Amino acid sequence: MFDPFHIGPVVVDPPVALAPMSGYTTLPMRLLSRRAGAGIVYTELLSATGLHYGSRRTREMMTLAEGERPVGIQLFGTKPEWMAEAARVAEEQGADLVDINMGCAVPKVMKTGAGAALLGTPDRAVEMVRAARGAVGCPVTVKMRTGLREGDDEWLPLAVRLVEAGAAAVTLHARTAAQHYTGNADWAQIAALVREAPVPVIGNGDVDGAGAAVRMLEETGCAGVMIGRAALGNPWIFGQVRATLRGKTPPPEPTPAERGAMALCHLQRYAAQEEERRAVLEMRPLLAHYLQGLPGAKRWRAGVMKATSVAEVRGLLEEFLREAAAWRPGEERTSSFPDESHTTAGGG
Ligand SMILES: Cc1cc2nc3c(=O)[nH]c(=O)nc-3n(C[C@H](O)[C@H](O)[C@H](O)COP(=O)(O)O)c2cc1C
Repeated sequence: MFDPFHIGPVVVDPPVALAPMSGYTTLPMRLLSRRAGAGIVYTELLSATGLHYGSRRTREMMTLAEGERPVGIQLFGTKPEWMAEAARVAEEQGADLVDINMGCAVPKVMKTGAGAALLGTPDRAVEMVRAARGAVGCPVTVKMRTGLREGDDEWLPLAVRLVEAGAAAVTLHARTAAQHYTGNADWAQIAALVREAPVPVIGNGDVDGAGAAVRMLEETGCAGVMIGRAALGNPWIFGQVRATLRGKTPPPEPTPAERGAMALCHLQRYAAQEEERRAVLEMRPLLAHYLQGLPGAKRWRAGVMKATSVAEVRGLLEEFLREAAAWRPGEERTSSFPDESHTTAGGG
């Protein structure tokens, strides 16, 4: 029903992407999302400046695995020559494409002139793409917003210039930077970009399930959709979208036990790559997401927010599942959309 699409030589099949999300889209989440059915995944935004100054942590965060491909490394920065340098490193690390962040509205990033601030310095934004494009053989793409603030209509001509400078695809989070995550994403802007840009457009903003994915593809004509918040603690969403886009019956919702098992598996994978305590601390919010909306989720959340070891999390999970076994049918998950608690801290 909905075909795969290409970004240069990269095939995105099915046409649904895991959004870059800082603090979340580490290697385990990318692998689990790909396995569940995402057609492409992205690292969180990584600093070109950090790389230039030899940040070991930034380099580590560029570690990719074969099983997650196709994968994009997302970079942010302000200096075209450092962006070129960082793009080269990303390609060496095995990135299938390099994505330049022009959407992050977090003050810490914007005040340096990077992220969404680039929408206000269009010549520099164009130079960033040109520099990266000249430095690598893989496609260079851009993720942007619909301007800095309401009424800003410069973003669309800028998007066209970015394509002329070499961007092989554009992802549009259909909100302004000033909106952060408030209000609804304005999908009509995605349709407007589709009409103007002679490259694939990936639509983004408020896709919370297979129905919304289909609606966005149909209403905007975009080549693919990108899912962020709704994929937190919910890799199954990609299987549901994939099946629906292929005209098949979507798999059933995961059971509480499957959710718990996936949360633990995710944590164990992360703890295998990071020091255990650090892994648990960093993964606390994501662990909470996995069981969100289920009875007992509040206690689970309170527990994981204090946990410091994998064993503790396993204990909390066993307790949760013992209680879940006593539920009456129908006492299932109530909300499919993660709460807003992480949306203000996030990038994008
Ligand atoms: C916690 C969090 C972190 C984010 N980090 C990034 C990021 O590193 N790079 C980026 O381009 N967008 C980032 N975003 C924005 C998402 O990629 C996406 O554009 C946004 O969440 C809208 O999509 P959604 O409605 O499907 O969540 C982040 C969003 C959240 C919630």
